[in-house]
Amino acid sequence: MHDSLHHTCQWGATAPFGAGPLETGMRRLSLDDNDAKARQWFVDETRALGCTEHIVDELGNTFAIRPGRHSGPPTAMGSHLDTQPGPGGRYDGILGVHAGVEALRVMKENNVETHYPVCVVNWTNEEGARFPYSVMASSVWAGLLGKEEAWAIREVPSLATDPSSPKTVKQELKRIGWLGPAKCDYREVPLGAHFELHIEQGPVLEREGKKIGVVLGGQAYRWFTLEIGGQEAHTGATPYANRADALQAAARIIVMSKAKAGEHQGLCSTGVLSLQPGSTNTIPGKVVMSLDIRHQDEAVVGAIEEAIRNEADAIAESEGGCTLSWRLDSDSKAPKFDAACIQAVKDSATEAVGRDKWMELRSGAGHDTFAASTRCPATMIFVPSKGGISHNEKEYTSKEDCAIGAQVLLGAVLRYDAH
Ligand code: GLV
Ligand code: MN
Ligand code: MN
Ligand code: MN
Repeated sequence: MHDSLHHTCQWGATAPFGAGPLETGMRRLSLDDNDAKARQWFVDETRALGCTEHIVDELGNTFAIRPGRHSGPPTAMGSHLDTQPGPGGRYDGILGVHAGVEALRVMKENNVETHYPVCVVNWTNEEGARFPYSVMASSVWAGLLGKEEAWAIREVPSLATDPSSPKTVKQELKRIGWLGPAKCDYREVPLGAHFELHIEQGPVLEREGKKIGVVLGGQAYRWFTLEIGGQEAHTGATPYANRADALQAAARIIVMSKAKAGEHQGLCSTGVLSLQPGSTNTIPGKVVMSLDIRHQDEAVVGAIEEAIRNEADAIAESEGGCTLSWRLDSDSKAPKFDAACIQAVKDSATEAVGRDKWMELRSGAGHDTFAASTRCPATMIFVPSKGGISHNEKEYTSKEDCAIGAQVLLGAVLRYDAH
């Protein structure tokens, strides 16, 4: 086993492609020009580090494969290179891909031969920010989402490059040259296992003074787009009793949905909200908003959804007979991580930081590993997030903690390969 990362590290290599004004910010929306540049870096770098095969599939997922002594499905290290728009941070997703690349570098510099091939995967549109389906292309690979359905997903209005004609996933894959020839299907590109290093994005590891989180599983979640229709009217001349104010209905639904989720010990959030026509003296006639419902148990996510739906209809009706329609955008079940993968991570973490510096935890956020875990043994490794902050340009994990995470990732992959 290689107990330290003595090599020329390239953590910042993709930082120029969408870097924000702060040292740690990044805005690299899925399938934008910066994403294309990061993808090219990924292929060039992994080729130089001994990946003799690159598979690009119809959703732009890219598998960089390093051969082993025997052929067979590779043990994968995967994550994503796209970010939140805010700008988001430079670690969410990016760390997992870079750590995979660094693992390849260590293997090359130490002439490590694995039994089976090893690969690094860059999954397309994990964030679901520009195109509102989270964990999108790994879900297509896993057969949880149809290819045509994914191709047809359109930019959200607020992040559209040209709001008058929002682009689809397929149009943008073509435009940036990453609509690959391989079928996006776990049976065409099978993986032996999937390991993902990720920042925690929450406060637990830092609070507990731990260096590594061994991730046992995560939450289920569902995303919806709600459209509320009212009637545009003059704000000065229209008495309350005559209004159908779509924004009043939206505001009440948002407040109510937080309360309903809270009653079930779950979470419900709205992060997208747009209104029309957007004029001080016109009552909003239309609102488009998101709902993101989460709980460890998918049955409870369903119960929260039902509770919200029941009351939302009545709220819309009571606001002058506003209309309300729902569209399901994402549906992610609570993942089950694999015992052998988890054991490989525990052993690797014990070697890297000692037994007292790692702990078991569950993921609050969704990840590509959730989709991958439905088709191959999989698990995740977390490293601390400073202040628990993520989806924010202040997101930060020290170089030392990133390196420890990469070391644990490499150790887990080599152990799994040998098991
Ligand atoms: C997935 O990226 C999530 O929103 O947790
Ligand atoms: Mn992520
Ligand atoms: Mn994210
Ligand atoms: Mn995510």
